[in-house]
Amino acid sequence: MDVIECLEQTAPRFHGSDENPRNWRLGAFGVNWMKSNLKADWHCLETGAGYTTCVMAQYCKSVITISPLDKEHMRIKSWLVENGFSHENIKFIHDLPQKYLPFLKNIHVDLLLIDGGHAFPYPIIDWYYGSMFLKKDGYLLVDNIEINSVRILYDFLLTESDVWALQDRDEEFSVFQKKKDFSYERVKWIDQVFNK
Ligand SMILES: C[S@@+](CC[C@H](N)C(=O)[O-])C[C@H]1O[C@@H](n2cnc3c(N)ncnc32)[C@H](O)[C@@H]1O
Repeated sequence: MDVIECLEQTAPRFHGSDENPRNWRLGAFGVNWMKSNLKADWHCLETGAGYTTCVMAQYCKSVITISPLDKEHMRIKSWLVENGFSHENIKFIHDLPQKYLPFLKNIHVDLLLIDGGHAFPYPIIDWYYGSMFLKKDGYLLVDNIEINSVRILYDFLLTESDVWALQDRDEEFSVFQKKKDFSYERVKWIDQVFNK
């Protein structure tokens, strides 16, 4: 059975630290985008873990997933094993992405999913450090753009259309393609369309 079908049928609760796990999965629009677009030779990086970890691991070459709750990682591994899926190509990082990403080095990814902590400024930090590893033509997925602290990032990216081309979206989920290699390390505020 396909991993997405299996997730839909079994509806695992991966999230939260306590004995009452929750399901904070990516919505159907995002999962369908993944089903139609993920490629077998892609390397992926995500903040947050869950359904998306399972899907990317089965559809792509590798996944690095960063989230602070080890228990979520254990539940994801158990679900994969119980349902006959491999987790050999998943690197589980048990840390806050905001703390871990600045020290990550020497990786290049085809896809970056921002779906970790949603409080301001975590999505911005995750994007700033994570997108340095995203290859030209790679995809940036930003979930929960309906939340103001994520919406700021979405609105900013829209104004950076020479770097980030909006490919798809619904009310919660958005996909941008990185059109060129670009570093935000030394930009001037006055040059940004966002500040005009
Ligand atoms: C919305 S869920 C991720 C959903 C996942 N993409 C899926 O499809 O199931 C949010 C994730 O962010 C993690 N998280 C919670 N607080 C965080 C924080 N302050 N910084 C980073 N990640 C956090 C949670 O542990 C959880 O794995």
